[in-house]
Amino acid sequence: MAVLTYTPWLLAITEFLILASITKSEVPAIIVFGDSSVDAGNNNVIATLLKSNFRPYGRDFAGGRPTGRFCNGRIPPDFISEAFGLKPTVPAYLDPAYNIADFATGVCFASAGTGYDNATSAVLNVIPMWKELEYYKDYQNKLRAHLGNKKANEVLREALYLVSLGTNDFLENYYTFPTRRAQFTVQQYEDFLITLSGNFLGELYGLGARKISLTGVPPMGCLPLERTTNIMGHHGCMEKYNNVALEFNGKLKTMASRLNKELHGLRLEIADAYNIFNQIIRRPSLYGFEVVEKACCGTGTFEMSYLCSDQSPFTCKDADKYVFWDSFHPTEKTNHIISNHLIPHLLEKFR
Ligand SMILES: *[C@@H]1O[C@H](CO)[C@@H](O)[C@H](O)[C@H]1NC(C)=O
Repeated sequence: MAVLTYTPWLLAITEFLILASITKSEVPAIIVFGDSSVDAGNNNVIATLLKSNFRPYGRDFAGGRPTGRFCNGRIPPDFISEAFGLKPTVPAYLDPAYNIADFATGVCFASAGTGYDNATSAVLNVIPMWKELEYYKDYQNKLRAHLGNKKANEVLREALYLVSLGTNDFLENYYTFPTRRAQFTVQQYEDFLITLSGNFLGELYGLGARKISLTGVPPMGCLPLERTTNIMGHHGCMEKYNNVALEFNGKLKTMASRLNKELHGLRLEIADAYNIFNQIIRRPSLYGFEVVEKACCGTGTFEMSYLCSDQSPFTCKDADKYVFWDSFHPTEKTNHIISNHLIPHLLEKFR
């Protein structure tokens, strides 16, 4: 029993061990790469038509403010940041309203419309992935100047990196333009994207990232825009696209376990958003939704970006009843449910 009698000395050691374990496991920042699923407003300041910094976008965001998020409110990185005890929103790197002090705990380099393939980002003249990495290098320099080398390197090493993209490579590029289809079967194109994804993650690792959560593609055949064009299928989901999504996500998993073996100290996890998203789409009423086939904005069939207008008399009153906000993007409520589903695993794995 003597062992259990805490002397002040033992108590001090215990406290030290607890503190050390907390410090060690902390995530000091959330750093985001990818497309519109995670873009917090970088497209606002670049020369693209793919923007969302006007109403009705952001109408349920704090202050009813459109930010450039493709949503009525917050997007998954915001919810994840909050769950890790950090800011309730992750700001866009190119947003002039923020500075390096803000970015020290969270920063977003994502660009709506981008993809792994350079040809995808070229379609709407958005930020390609290699350039998101250039901005990240620029950020590293600013962070080192701001915090000092030692502290900055620790933040960069312990931060949680969220990477989410891929849908645009298939829907905006492969199935829309003939160039890639003439070069690759869809399986070959998946493999091409997997190689690009692996290269991107390898570069990110080389720059110091260790904790990475990579999100695959959603049930992209069920996006309202794809249902609208599925005339032969009576506006049901394009199951062909969903099957590609599942196949691609499976290949991402294989790639991830290979990288985890090859790159010392890497903790790369695939965030499976497909399944929870698919459950919401198949049984919306279980989650309190009333509409899944159409989006809230406009007629809900094709509108996004500039076609989503505050003037449209069709836009829904209560976005919480809708799974989709515009024809390509989920509502804040859907984002929240998906995030809540992913968060326990992220906390367990990375905190
Ligand atoms: C994409 O473009 C960048 C910049 O031009 C280039 O460095 C990179 O190799 C390209 N990637 C592919 C796969 O072509």
